[in-house]
Amino acid sequence: MTDRYAVIGNPVTHSKSPWIHREFARATSQDLEYIRIEAPLDGFLGTVEEFRALGGKGANVTLPFKEQAYRYCTEPSAAARMAEAVNTLVIGEAVVRGENTDGSGLLRDVTGNLGRSLPGKAILLLGAGGAARGVLGPLVAAHPAQLVIANRTLPKAQELARRFGMPVQARAFESLQGSAFDLIINATSAGLDGAGFQISPSVFRKGALAYEMVYGRDTPFLALARACGCETSDGLGMLVEQAADSFQIWRGVRPETAGVLGALRAR
Ligand code: ATR
Repeated sequence: MTDRYAVIGNPVTHSKSPWIHREFARATSQDLEYIRIEAPLDGFLGTVEEFRALGGKGANVTLPFKEQAYRYCTEPSAAARMAEAVNTLVIGEAVVRGENTDGSGLLRDVTGNLGRSLPGKAILLLGAGGAARGVLGPLVAAHPAQLVIANRTLPKAQELARRFGMPVQARAFESLQGSAFDLIINATSAGLDGAGFQISPSVFRKGALAYEMVYGRDTPFLALARACGCETSDGLGMLVEQAADSFQIWRGVRPETAGVLGALRAR
């Protein structure tokens, strides 16, 4: 019987995950099907249980259900526990494993596809919500010299800094004036403009990499970074790499990502 996988989210209509995973399956000769399931906002549990009852072997979980998926799984991985969020469920007879590949996907994109080395570097992470929390563990594990989290609501950044320990420091946006970074990641859900928030252009060290976690949009964050002489990237590579990590967890084989990423970019 063909193994069945799904992406569960709301909204999920525009998710690229089914296309990506079908491409991975084709390239690695794996027999699987992958569908999208839109769960009602108050109905994640019922949706995932129904999928499980129908024989679902695994699921990617996207906004806004990653925290619920963490609570749902019976065996969270270390990365999932650090993030308190799960984007990959491995559904067994008796147990459900929960993994988080967002951070590993970001790291693979930044260090592999974009060729940046992180040990000893200064990293600025903008935002302290779910997206930021999901990538913090792997960023700390990459041994930067400095990892600053800046957030509109400072106590949320301070809480994360406490949980993750050195080298993480929490700062308010206003206090970034005069500081410069090698990697600046926008993990807020706001554009960087008058209606959103403003940070000092000094953070964008010339030649640094500015990374926008969302994809397919040239945001004010990316425009400002470019004007400051940074290399910029959206989060499409992270999307493909986190998918490849999920695929490997499910199928035991890691697909090549370059072709899939190139095809998505060309669309
Ligand atoms: P996500 O899962 O996408 O991270 P979230 O958990 O709601 O969503 O977090 C959103 C992040 O974007 C938070 O860091 C939020 O800042 P606050 O903690 O101060 O709310 C940030 N954010 C959202 N809108 C913003 C705005 N207009 N200006 C600055 N930061 C904003």
